[in-house]
Amino acid sequence: MLKHLLLIQSLHTKRRIICCKAENLTSRRLWWVCSFNCHTGPDCVLQQSTERKGAPRNQVTKRHKRERSACQPILDCFDQQYSHELGNLWTSARAVLLDPPSWQYGVMLNRFATLTDIKHILQSQGFSSVLQQTGASTLLLNASSTVSKQQVEKASLFLPHSVSTCPPTSDDSHLHLDHTSHSLSQHPQSEPQSSSSLPRPLLQCYIHPSALRFPSQAHWPGQLKQYYLLNAASLLPVLALQVRDGEKVLDLCSAPGGKALAIMQTATPALLCCNEPDPHRRDWLAKTLESFLPHSLSSRVIVSSQDGRSFGQSEAGTYDKVLVDAPCSNDRSWLYSSNGQQGEQRLKERARLPGLQAQLLRSALSSVRPGGVVVYSTCTLSSSENHAVVEAVLNSCPEAEPEDLWEELVIPFSNHFTFSPAHPAHRHSQDDTVSSPRHKHGILVVPQPGRTWGPMFLCRIRRKK
Ligand SMILES: C[S@@+](CC[C@H](N)C(=O)[O-])C[C@H]1O[C@@H](n2cnc3c(N)ncnc32)[C@H](O)[C@@H]1O
Repeated sequence: MLKHLLLIQSLHTKRRIICCKAENLTSRRLWWVCSFNCHTGPDCVLQQSTERKGAPRNQVTKRHKRERSACQPILDCFDQQYSHELGNLWTSARAVLLDPPSWQYGVMLNRFATLTDIKHILQSQGFSSVLQQTGASTLLLNASSTVSKQQVEKASLFLPHSVSTCPPTSDDSHLHLDHTSHSLSQHPQSEPQSSSSLPRPLLQCYIHPSALRFPSQAHWPGQLKQYYLLNAASLLPVLALQVRDGEKVLDLCSAPGGKALAIMQTATPALLCCNEPDPHRRDWLAKTLESFLPHSLSSRVIVSSQDGRSFGQSEAGTYDKVLVDAPCSNDRSWLYSSNGQQGEQRLKERARLPGLQAQLLRSALSSVRPGGVVVYSTCTLSSSENHAVVEAVLNSCPEAEPEDLWEELVIPFSNHFTFSPAHPAHRHSQDDTVSSPRHKHGILVVPQPGRTWGPMFLCRIRRKK
């Protein structure tokens, strides 16, 4: 059990360190140290896998100490495009993107791990639950299959691979790395565990009003991590997906797996197929899943390696829900390209992305059953990878219908996230002017000072027939 949180200290104005001293029931002492000059959830997992190879946990790694400067060709391109597309909103978004120490991080709790003291520690540090504040957690509980009070009590006793009580002994590599997405039939011996014996679905994400970053956890084979660090806006595509217990879900572009983990917090699908064609990123994905999900889910959560563009043909009409978290410009990461040459190379690739994104979205719409839902998302502000892709696909797919997320997500989350285009009723300046029907084709979270979440674009599309 975690008992003490000892120290928060400031190293210098641009960099702050949290030192958490934690003590568990087995008297094992852990020191977690982490810098704020770090990155998004996926990069944090990279850091964890470095730690796994033996880097001491109580030192700030060199990588964190490195000052980062923006890549000029990328910044010039963004300035030109986004000042035109976002107006004044770009000026403040630009300031955030150029100041990584100001970036906020969400702490998504893992319902499959023992979380005895973690909430208390977070709250004592000033973190609060973003979903409780928005009422979205209630929506989620209602959306998932009804769980009786008795089932909840029974489920709370089921604490697989408890972090605080299980020694790091057995190898927990339970998630199959398949070359197709048919591992259910390849592993008929593993009976899917009934969802009532699992902890109840509950997506919990804690955020802090300032750029206070909770330390990331090291991987220990046989133990489940208690939380995953992420950009809290990444939860929106998962919430928009509205996964119910027992559904078949495809995460078409899955590595490193942050949204797959979030899906598994919201419900217990009959199948979650996590697809990733890049072998290196697929390994990373498998490690993420292994670190957070219990062995008992191995027949429900599978890893596949197809090119996402082929799913529409190979698995037509198969899934209830499909997430297309598409490869994109990734503004935060691209801005810190290692040098001008890499930046120029990326800008060349950028022109090809909308074509690939549209192919992936069409494939997703074919792989979902009639009446099913596809959520398309990116982490770029670029309208040519966002609204333009959605519009192009909708124009060629008469059976696809976009759904308005204004009431469901924009209004509940507007206290925490800044959305663009602004709804006419919320418009503050001429620069925010975008015709109101356009938000039917997606919503965009724009990072702003003090609410640095995003960039995140998402659109939900239902297949009518
Ligand atoms: C934005 S990342 C996904 C992030 C992930 N959903 C998460 O939340 O951790 C996009 C992923 O798409 C993968 N990708 C690239 N081309 C693809 C393709 N043709 N089909 C499927 N995935 C692809 C990339 O390798 C990358 O891992």
